[in-house]
Amino acid sequence: MAYYWFKAFHLIGVVVWFAGLFYLVRLFVYHAEAATETEPAQAILKAQYEIMEKRLYNIITTPGMIVTVAMAIGLISTEPEILKSGWLHIKLSFVALLLLYHFYCGRIMKKLEKGECNWTGQQFRALNEAPTLLLVVIVLLAVFKNQLPLDLTTWLIVALVVLMAVTIQLYAKKRRQDQEKLRQNTPQKEEVATR
Ligand code: HEM
Repeated sequence: MAYYWFKAFHLIGVVVWFAGLFYLVRLFVYHAEAATETEPAQAILKAQYEIMEKRLYNIITTPGMIVTVAMAIGLISTEPEILKSGWLHIKLSFVALLLLYHFYCGRIMKKLEKGECNWTGQQFRALNEAPTLLLVVIVLLAVFKNQLPLDLTTWLIVALVVLMAVTIQLYAKKRRQDQEKLRQNTPQKEEVATR
C-alpha cells in the first residue's frame, strides 16, 4: 500500500515541478522583453517579474522537485529490487539533466535580477522546450520500462525537436509582422503634435 502512496505523490510532485519550470522560463521571456519598453514601464515590469520568478521558484518549483525526489526515494526503499532495473538507470540520467536544468534556471533568475543576463526572449523560448523533451523521455521510460521501443522513441524526439524549432521560428516571424503593423498604425509624436 505504501508503494501506491509514494507513487501517487511522486506523480503529484512531477506535475507541480513541471508547472513551475515551464512558467518560470515563460516569465524569463517576458522579463527579457521588458528591456524593449521605455521607462518607467521597464523598471516597474522588471521589478514585478523578479518578485514573481523568486516566489515561483522558491514556493512551487523547488518544493515540487523535492516532493518528486523524496517520493522516488520512498518508492525505491519500499521495493529496493527496482534499483536493478536498466530502465531506471537510464531514467536517472535524464532526471540528472532535469536537475541541472532546474538549478541552471535558478542561476539565470539571479543573473536577471542583477541585470547580468543578455539572453533574448527568443532564446528563452527555445530554452523552455528543453524540459518538454526531458518530460517525454522520462515518462516514456517510466511507463514502458525495459520494453521502450528505441527506434520509435528516437523518431518521436526528432519530430518533436523539428516541430518546436519550426513553431518558434513561425512565431518569431508573426511577432515581427505584428510589431511592424503596430509601428505603421501608431502616429509619430511630431505627427500628432502638428495635427
Ligand atoms: C529522483 C528521480 C526519480 C526516481 C528515482 C524515480 C523513480 C521511480 C520509480 C521507482 C517509479 C515506480 C515505477 C513503477 O512502479 O512502475 C516511478 C514511477 C514514475 N515516475 Fe519516477 N522517478 C524519478 C523522477 C521522475 C520524474 C522527474 C518524472 C517525470 C518527468 C517521473 C515520472 C514517473 C512516472 C510517470 C511514473 C509512473 C509510471 C507507472 O506507474 O507506469 N519520475 N519513478
